[in-house]
Amino acid sequence: MFLTFMALTLPLAIFGVYTDNFARNKMMPLAAAAYSELPGVCLEHAFVNASIFRQITVSCDVFEKDHCSGFTAVSHSDRAIIVAFRGSESFIQLITESTQTMFSSKVTFIGGGQVSEFLFKGFNTVWTNGMKDDVMTLKNTYYNYDIWVTGHSVGGAMASIAAATIVKTGIKPASNVILYTFGQPRTGDKAFATSHDSMGMQSYRLTHHRDMVAHVPPMNFEGYYHHEAEVWYDNDMKVGQGYIECDNADEDNNCSDSDFFTLSIDDHTHYFNRKVSTFGDDGCIDAFKNLKTHKQIGNEISYKSM
Ligand SMILES: *[C@@H]1O[C@H](CO)[C@@H](O)[C@H](O)[C@H]1NC(C)=O
Ligand SMILES: *[C@@H]1O[C@H](CO)[C@@H](O)[C@H](O)[C@H]1NC(C)=O
Repeated sequence: MFLTFMALTLPLAIFGVYTDNFARNKMMPLAAAAYSELPGVCLEHAFVNASIFRQITVSCDVFEKDHCSGFTAVSHSDRAIIVAFRGSESFIQLITESTQTMFSSKVTFIGGGQVSEFLFKGFNTVWTNGMKDDVMTLKNTYYNYDIWVTGHSVGGAMASIAAATIVKTGIKPASNVILYTFGQPRTGDKAFATSHDSMGMQSYRLTHHRDMVAHVPPMNFEGYYHHEAEVWYDNDMKVGQGYIECDNADEDNNCSDSDFFTLSIDDHTHYFNRKVSTFGDDGCIDAFKNLKTHKQIGNEISYKSM
C-alpha cells in the first residue's frame, strides 16, 4: 500500500493505525525525554497526567563515551506504561567511522533471528539493571494499561528489541504493545524482522527524509534487514506535512530505500522539525535553538544555534 495522509485531523492512537499526531505529540517527546537527566520535565509539558517511575542510566562499554539509559513512566490520561530509551551522540560518530566493526557481531535473540550484539548489549544493560523489574511492577500495578515503547537513533533499536522482548516473554500481549521508533538503525537479520512482524504489535519505524542511520548498516550487510512498518517523511516534518506509510514489506522501495544516495546526519538528529536530543534536554518546549538550521543559500534567513 502507498498511503499519504495529512496529519492534523486524525485522532490519537486508534489501534493499528499510524497517526502523525500521536507520533509528533506523544512518542517523539518521550524519545526526546530519554536524552534528559530530568525526563519528568518533558512529561509535565507534553502530558496531562504522567509521571516518571524511574530512569536507569548505567555505564556500558558499547557506547564508549556515553551511558546506556532508559526510563519508565506512567501516563494515566493515556492509560499507558511508558518505556523509552536514549540515543547516543557518540554512536553517530562511531557509525561514520566503523560500521563494520560495530555490526559484524550478532547474537541469537529469544524473539527469533539474530540481532546486533552491540545493540542488544545496549538494550540488555538497561533492561537487566532494573528496567525489567520496573516494567513488571508497573504492569502488575496498572494491569489494564498498554505499554508504549520508544526511542531515537540507537535508542530506537533498543526500543525495538525491548518491545519484542516484552511480547515474547509474555509480559504483555502484542495487542497491548505499541512501538514507535525514530531513525532506527537496522537492528537484526531477516529472521528477526520476520518474527518481529509476526508478533503483531503496533510497530512503526519513522524515517526522516535522508536520515543516514536508517540505512546503517547497509541492507544485507551480514544479513541486516529492517522490520515493519516504515513511515517515511520525505520533507522537514513540519505540522501538516505528509508522509508515506510502507506496511507491506520490511524493505520497501516506496519509502526511504528509494532515496538514500545522499544521506544526512541532520535529517537523523531532527524529527518533527526539532533536534530530538536538545528538545528533550530543554524539557520538550520549543526554544529558539531547536529550530532546524536553515541551509538554503541566498535569500533565506539563516537560523543558527545560540
Ligand atoms: C509501491 O507503490 C506502488 C504504487 O502505489 C504500489 O503499486 C506497490 O505495491 C508499492 N510497493 C509495495 C512493496 O507496497
Ligand atoms: C492522575 O491519575 C491518577 C490515577 O488515575 C489519579 O489518582 C490522579 O488524581 C490524577 N491526577 C490528576 C491531577 O488528574
